Amino acid sequence: MKIETKRLTLREPRIGDWKDLVDGLNNLNISKNTLTIPYPYTKKDALEYLNRCSKKKKDKESYKFFIELRKEKKVIGAIDLNDYKKDQGTAETGSWINERYQKKGYITEAKIAVNDFVFHKLKLRKLKSKVFKENKASQKTQERMGYQKEGVLRKESICKPTKKIHDDIVYGLLKEEWEKARPKVIKHLNKKIKKLENRK
Ligand SMILES: CC(C)(COP(=O)(O)OP(=O)(O)OC[C@H]1O[C@@H](n2cnc3c(N)ncnc32)[C@H](O)[C@@H]1OP(=O)(O)O)[C@@H](O)C(=O)NCCC(=O)NCCS
Repeated sequence: MKIETKRLTLREPRIGDWKDLVDGLNNLNISKNTLTIPYPYTKKDALEYLNRCSKKKKDKESYKFFIELRKEKKVIGAIDLNDYKKDQGTAETGSWINERYQKKGYITEAKIAVNDFVFHKLKLRKLKSKVFKENKASQKTQERMGYQKEGVLRKESICKPTKKIHDDIVYGLLKEEWEKARPKVIKHLNKKIKKLENRK
């Protein structure tokens, strides 16, 4: 599975990606917003994860998109489809971007491609996502993509690396909501990319 976008290649994880994983994930600003990413994040953690990914691939259908920045040939983040239920037509997404590469529209660009894949190729009906109440960057990202806030789950999650208990905001994106949001999201992203290019 490989998807090319303007600046990115979305592809399966490879064992050789461990250095980029450590570079991106050995950062509490990332792991404090996730359930299970350990901190500190070491070569051992990365290799264990990558080995699990290749085993899972053989066992059952699961999707993990590593986000490679083509001009640097570097993995700068990932989008996972978790809890993928073919019969139900739903999946849950989770994502991260290396802090040095944030606020450049990379997750927006990657999510456009993943949403198209999910709704057109996998023909799912709905994508779901849970975000800690404190995580404004992720809330902004989801709302920008057309996700609707569906509710708050109180004291729902414990963040493994910080042991903190969080309220979760539940978001949902229906296929028809994505089709409606898509042109606006693309226009907004193109404007952002142009601005970044002019700044160079
Ligand atoms: C959430 C995350 C993936 C966003 O990645 P990104 O590549 O910086 O996102 P983009 O540049 O595509 O920006 C998406 C929107 O979020 C906004 N945003 C990004 N960082 C932000 C921040 N720290 N605070 C507020 N808004 C922010 C952007 O301004 C943009 O909105 P806009 O288009 O209206 O300007 C990234 O911050 C991250 O990896 N966070 C840590 C891990 C995490 O929270 N994962 C999600 C768990 S639910």
